[in-house]
Amino acid sequence: MKIKSFVDTISLSGRLTSGLALFSLCVLGFLFLGVHFAIKDNLEEKQSLHLQSAVSAIKHLIESPKNHQTSLSILHDLEDLVHGDRDVHLKLIEESGGILYISKPSAWPQGARTIELPLPEERRIASYSTVVIALDTSEDQALIAKFSAILLAATLVGCSTIGLGGFVIVRQGLYPVRSLAEQTRQLATLAIGERLNTQGIPDELVLLVDQFNDLLSRLEKAYLQLESFNANVAHELRTPLAVMTANCELALRGSDTADQLREYIGSNLEDLQSLSGIISDMLFLSHADRGEKARRLPIASLSTLCSEVVEYYEAVFLEAGLNCIIQGDASGSFDGALLRRAVSNLLNNAVRHAQSKSVIEINIKSDKEGGAHISVINIGAPIPEESLPHIFDRFYRIDTSRISSSQNHGLGLAIVSAIARMHGGDTTASCANGATTIGIYVRSGA
Ligand SMILES: Nc1ncnc2c1ncn2[C@@H]1O[C@H](COP(=O)(O)OP(=O)(O)O)[C@@H](O)[C@H]1O
Ligand SMILES: [Mg+2]
Repeated sequence: MKIKSFVDTISLSGRLTSGLALFSLCVLGFLFLGVHFAIKDNLEEKQSLHLQSAVSAIKHLIESPKNHQTSLSILHDLEDLVHGDRDVHLKLIEESGGILYISKPSAWPQGARTIELPLPEERRIASYSTVVIALDTSEDQALIAKFSAILLAATLVGCSTIGLGGFVIVRQGLYPVRSLAEQTRQLATLAIGERLNTQGIPDELVLLVDQFNDLLSRLEKAYLQLESFNANVAHELRTPLAVMTANCELALRGSDTADQLREYIGSNLEDLQSLSGIISDMLFLSHADRGEKARRLPIASLSTLCSEVVEYYEAVFLEAGLNCIIQGDASGSFDGALLRRAVSNLLNNAVRHAQSKSVIEINIKSDKEGGAHISVINIGAPIPEESLPHIFDRFYRIDTSRISSSQNHGLGLAIVSAIARMHGGDTTASCANGATTIGIYVRSGA
């Protein structure tokens, strides 16, 4: 755990450099070991051959007793043999264990490779029974030690050079990251529309920078929305409050009749209801924004649900000479109360914008995934092309002359859109051939 937190504190250049140095240490270390063992093996093989050839020559000499009648003559021949080879040494050991003869007595090699040749009884000449042949390998060992030292030094120097070079390369390579960090630091003090510059940034980072810029754009949009939302709320509240204040001032003059006073109170009540409507709509939207989901229950017929809402509007339809038909049906698991509210908002708009004596159609369709489309179609003036993408925005109204209307604050379709989101769905709006179709798509859920 401690090691992990320590590693987490190392900089990116530190990690890459130490990784590179460690990797090169492993590679060079393996190379060093390989070369070391190859040289050692080679020398040992050479030594074995050398020793074997000395042994065969000595064997040949002592196994031909006919020509060597006396131990003195054998000794002479053996001496001749080892004199010609400075690395081969010889000892003759008596049966009793004493050394009878030793070649180059001052230079008997320590830790040398030796072979003992016990002589068979019938071959023994004079009193010696064992021949010890030694090969001096000190020169080879010195050579191996020297090679090892050189290889070790080369490995360490190589690693340090790679590490140092790697550090410089990595620092240079990470320059774009530092420049991005500097740009990001400056963003805090720049205007909200500023973005990170991708010029001179390597391809691998361009993707990240693009994502970051996209995020900034989304944040900017959300920020601007919030800003305009605040301005809209202030605006919506200001008008009824001003009217209510004026009403109160008029009432306080004290010169009005009871009927006039009742009128002021009635007007204030209307404004208060309107304010409370705005506030409850805003609360609903804020719950939806915080990710509140629809409470789903099985609904057998969306057509029945819509006809209940239509019934509520019956008087309005009669007054405007409108007719309403419901086409299609669907079932599923939805939040009935929310769907009623959405259909009511859609109908409310349709009634307001429908041509008199026309027919409003509610179209219900189910899809393969178990979702349902509910569209409300009315005949009337089309929504301008440029307004279509905005009609679901909060406080957005096309007909600005209605701004003062105490009932239509431009939150109706925003609520429809929130209800769609709470059901994992979406909204649609289109105008064609004099008909305006505004719909909601909701997914059926568990
Ligand atoms: N069926 C429709 N036909 C024409 N315009 C519509 C229709 N439905 C909505 N709109 C326009 O979309 C705007 C936003 O609608 P909405 O959010 O319900 O606000 P509100 O009804 O409070 O004005 C309205 O101002 C209206 O002009
Ligand atoms: Mg509306």
